[in-house]
Amino acid sequence: MAQPGKDAQQERASSKRVGALRALFPFLTPYRQYVVLAGIALTITASVSLLLPIAARRVVDGFGDGAVHLLDRYFMAAIGIAAIFALGTGLRYYVVTRLGERVVADIRAAVFGRMIGMSPAYYEKLLTGEVISRITTDTTLILSVIGSSVSWFLRNTLMFLGGLAMMFVTSGKLTLMVLAIVPIVILPILALGRRLRSLSRENQDWIARSSGNASEALQAAQTVQAFSHEAASREQFTEVTEASYRSAKARISVRALLTIVIIFVVFSGILGVLWIGARDVRADVMTAGELVQFLIYAGIMAGSVAALSEIWGELQRAAGATERLVELLAAEDNVKDPEHPRPVPTPVTGEIVFDDVIFHYPSRPADAALHGATFTVSPGEQVALVGPSGAGKSTVLQLLLRFYDPSSGEIRLDGVPLSEMERSEFRQAFALVPQDSVVFADTARENIRFGRPDATDAEVEAAARAAAAHDFISALPDGYDSYVGERGVMLSGGQRQRIAIARAILRDAPVLLLDEATSALDSESEQAVQRAVAEMSRGRTTLIVAHRLATVKQADRILVFEGGRIVADGTHDTLVAEGGLYARLARLQFTDGLAAE
Ligand SMILES: Nc1ncnc2c1ncn2[C@@H]1O[C@H](COP(=O)(O)OP(=O)(O)OP(=O)(O)O)[C@@H](O)[C@H]1O
Ligand SMILES: [Mg+2]
Repeated sequence: MAQPGKDAQQERASSKRVGALRALFPFLTPYRQYVVLAGIALTITASVSLLLPIAARRVVDGFGDGAVHLLDRYFMAAIGIAAIFALGTGLRYYVVTRLGERVVADIRAAVFGRMIGMSPAYYEKLLTGEVISRITTDTTLILSVIGSSVSWFLRNTLMFLGGLAMMFVTSGKLTLMVLAIVPIVILPILALGRRLRSLSRENQDWIARSSGNASEALQAAQTVQAFSHEAASREQFTEVTEASYRSAKARISVRALLTIVIIFVVFSGILGVLWIGARDVRADVMTAGELVQFLIYAGIMAGSVAALSEIWGELQRAAGATERLVELLAAEDNVKDPEHPRPVPTPVTGEIVFDDVIFHYPSRPADAALHGATFTVSPGEQVALVGPSGAGKSTVLQLLLRFYDPSSGEIRLDGVPLSEMERSEFRQAFALVPQDSVVFADTARENIRFGRPDATDAEVEAAARAAAAHDFISALPDGYDSYVGERGVMLSGGQRQRIAIARAILRDAPVLLLDEATSALDSESEQAVQRAVAEMSRGRTTLIVAHRLATVKQADRILVFEGGRIVADGTHDTLVAEGGLYARLARLQFTDGLAAE
């Protein structure tokens, strides 16, 4: 299996690094005051920590005369300092963690908001499970960064700088010796850091892959089982998961190596300095108290360096996560709303024009799905689209809703090109019953209300009646309030279809698009729905895609599609008389139909 995101990774490796976290700034700016507050709390606690070694020196070197009096004062002051430290730490925790949760909630909402609006071409190449993994796992990484790593990073940076300054004050000579060790510490960080970062991103990519893989298989669990494909699916999932484990293992090894090198170098360096310091104390060049003070500062500084190297790794992981989220946020949709949209005509009369539309699906640029389709549907007309499977009927509906843009030609609604109006606006004029009925994990009632969120219960029921759905919904255990399961798994195919039809009826839009809307219904329900559709299509522009020609016989006009072309256009009778593809299909169906009736 190929390594995911390898190209992207190499391309970015040198340019962005931890700087990728900058992309989080826009999410932080609304909460500036918290950032400032956290900064203040941090500075307070860091300064307080840096005062303690001075007190230690005083205690070691003794207070001279009036010692008892001073000692009391010192301990009183120490309690005060402890209180400030406690408050500062608590405040920092509260502000920073809350900030992290807030920002991550915003990022999740922003990413979802962007993704839900992407046109379908985007999802042809990306598993939805991957997007979900990015919204959950990657944002969790960012949460840990904002919620702790960053403040931990700043605190340790402050402690490092403060500790270093105080070391200088205490003993310049010893400090210079300590500084000589620094390059030896930084080298391995630089050497291994880059590797660590690319491994992090790889790891996250594999995790996303494994979520994508799992969600796809789980959604189709029944099909997987029906084909006894469980073992293969398990193997596939295990393979992806193991790959994620392997890249995690590589990352952990590099981190562990880094930790070993740094801790050893730092501690042996400090021991060396201590050695020299101890000699100085014996030679009376410095007091024991000063050496203690110096050592505590050195300890603080070394501790912060160790912490920083660890946090650096965290930050790199989060940088990878941020990159991945930013990728989603910056994803270009190839269908865009115009900058200055024209208003949708009100009311929409429902005139539809396809003007020499040539269309290739973006994922299949070589073959045209439509080769120059030209037709007009007058307001209120009922037009049927028929033709063999794969002829381009659903494609026409997809283009009409502007899920894709034609490669050339133009599609107009009431004379206005679709590309000049805002999608969410003109789509209000359409009610679609898609080829695969979509039902959400909610109640029957809410599923129908989806068509028009402000509809009353009575209107929902009326729509259900019209779609021949009222009887079966009433018979459900909780009637309209019955939960229908994820994707409507607790309903039959025909029941799902009637819910989808009821939804479209409720929408009450000027243009009705039915894609095989009654294909899963028994003859009786179908006839009932037909009547409802006939009723509804009065005064509305209606496009009906159907394989069963009985359902399109009474249409005002029939467009016959074949291989992405409109090969005939007429009424049932004229088309039968013409004796082309339609006549052939009709002969097949109606003789079969007659035999069955
Ligand atoms: N998302 C897609 N990406 C690439 N090609 C696609 C996509 N969707 C459909 N096609 C191709 O476009 C052609 C037309 O498909 P379309 O769905 O319009 O057929 P249809 O007439 O609705 O068929 P059916 O009666 O089976 O529903 C087919 O050859 C199909 O393989
Ligand atoms: Mg279709």
